[in-house]
Amino acid sequence: MEVVIAAPEELTGLAADTIEALLRSRPGAVLGLATGSSPLPLYDELVRRHREGGLSFARARAFTLDEYVGLPPEHPQRYRNVIARELTERVDLAPGAVQGPDGLAEDITAACTAYEDAIAGVGGIDLQILGIGTDGHVGFNEPGSSFASRTRIKTLTEQTRADNARFFGGELDQVPQHCLTQGLATIMSARHILLIASGRAKADAVHQLVEGPVSAMWPATILQHHPHVTALVDDAAASRLQLADYYRSTYAAKPAWQGL
Ligand code: GLP
Repeated sequence: MEVVIAAPEELTGLAADTIEALLRSRPGAVLGLATGSSPLPLYDELVRRHREGGLSFARARAFTLDEYVGLPPEHPQRYRNVIARELTERVDLAPGAVQGPDGLAEDITAACTAYEDAIAGVGGIDLQILGIGTDGHVGFNEPGSSFASRTRIKTLTEQTRADNARFFGGELDQVPQHCLTQGLATIMSARHILLIASGRAKADAVHQLVEGPVSAMWPATILQHHPHVTALVDDAAASRLQLADYYRSTYAAKPAWQGL
């Protein structure tokens, strides 16, 4: 796993450079989109490059990671609405080019299978953007998730519900208890994974992600088995990394042309 420790603005630029390079070389690339606060500066930067630099998403497709179960169609925190608001309506993605798990499906199991089929049907995800939960979840794969899991329904932990209550006016009881999420095996199928983490609250999870034993208790640790993961972390999120100096010097010595 490559670890890049830098200021948030620099991390945003690196992530945007990577996505831009992908879209310029493969306009029909398949992106994996995450919600949460971590990718928001990246989405703003992609929108800026679209408006000012001609970056086009017109032939791209995208899949979101996860979704709450049961939020009404117009709810502002429904993840497909969040992604539409934060990215897809602000760039030139084609209508219907962005899909997400259907948290209002009557047959949840069938909806999850259909979602997996849709991802496989376009040849899989080229580049997956990821955040990480304070408990080490990716997507909504909470501790104890199977490393072999595919898209399915999960129950959120109290920790995650409390972390996400800020998006629901601080009201814990407004946060749904269930979600649909790509599984860990689904996420592992992406060809390149960019994980973004900032702030001290993520320091334990980032330490486990990079340096901990691979364990279902910290689901993100499965990414140690992926051949192409880039962890983009700010100083606060990197503060518990034992080999932080090594990661810094390794990245500093990397030729700029190499990319992530
Ligand atoms: C949320 C999302 C994850 C996200 C994580 C971190 O619950 N389901 O996809 O990566 O938690 O969120 P944030 O970036 O807001 O810290």
